[in-house]
Amino acid sequence: MPAQPQGDVPPLDGSLPDSALDSSGTLAAYVHVPYCRVRCGYCDFNTYTATELGEGANREDYPDQIASEIDLASRVLGKPRALNTVFFGGGTPTLLPASVLGSVLSRLKSVFGVVTGAEVTTEANPDTLSPEYVGELARSGFTRVSVGMQSAVGHVLQTLDRTHDPDRIPEVVAWVKDAGLQVSLDLIYGTPGESLDDWKRSVDVALECEPDHISAYSLIVEPGTKMGAQVRRGELPMPDEDDLADKYEWADSA
Ligand SMILES: C[S@@+](CC[C@H](N)C(=O)[O-])C[C@H]1O[C@@H](n2cnc3c(N)ncnc32)[C@H](O)[C@@H]1O
Ligand code: SF4
Repeated sequence: MPAQPQGDVPPLDGSLPDSALDSSGTLAAYVHVPYCRVRCGYCDFNTYTATELGEGANREDYPDQIASEIDLASRVLGKPRALNTVFFGGGTPTLLPASVLGSVLSRLKSVFGVVTGAEVTTEANPDTLSPEYVGELARSGFTRVSVGMQSAVGHVLQTLDRTHDPDRIPEVVAWVKDAGLQVSLDLIYGTPGESLDDWKRSVDVALECEPDHISAYSLIVEPGTKMGAQVRRGELPMPDEDDLADKYEWADSA
């Protein structure tokens, strides 16, 4: 078992400090879906593959578990306040059936209320989407999908342990738009072996898709990940700070 980070032990009844209960502010919900089909070598997010989970924590138990969490959040917050943003992140929320994500959203609506025009997003791995799936998300009240593209270049995706076919990205973006949803693309720059031309190609392909937003993350080599071990053993080089800066500046000007 990895050691837990040092810090205050959270109260088991879910109570929050007074500062977090300020009722004048707006309220947003983050729904964590801690499942992935495979773990990408660079990722240290709180997520689990199917074989890593025991009884009570697996995907079939998720709807009941999240319903209890929503009820607990509502008890802790006391006075109901409508949500102005809802974000489903992961992990890979879209590994769950769209109907399950829709029912979690319905529960949030009935317990808290969601304001008209609220942004309701789910993160998605491109491998998990289809026109039917995004259509069901739209009918359930989602307004936006954030797709993990990472790169348009095969060897870069391979180093990142990504399993999706880069040629599918424009098609996936078109499905999301056709369903009437906004679309955002995640990119990672600075992967070992990625040239400046590789990065330019990724940004160009992302821009050609005309998404509503692009998030470009500098690769962080996290300790405890497969990539962290590859770098420690000298099998992969640590991302170079000057290379990262050049890629950031190029993306910023594109
Ligand atoms: C939860 S994931 C997105 C959804 C989905 N799981 C996927 O990967 O397609 C959130 C984003 O964080 C970024 N990310 C994760 N680990 C990172 C790391 N070590 N360095 C840089 N970006 C990272 C990736 O761009 C990823 O798309
Ligand atoms: S980057 Fe996304 S798909 Fe890959 S392990 Fe992390 S959360 Fe899962």
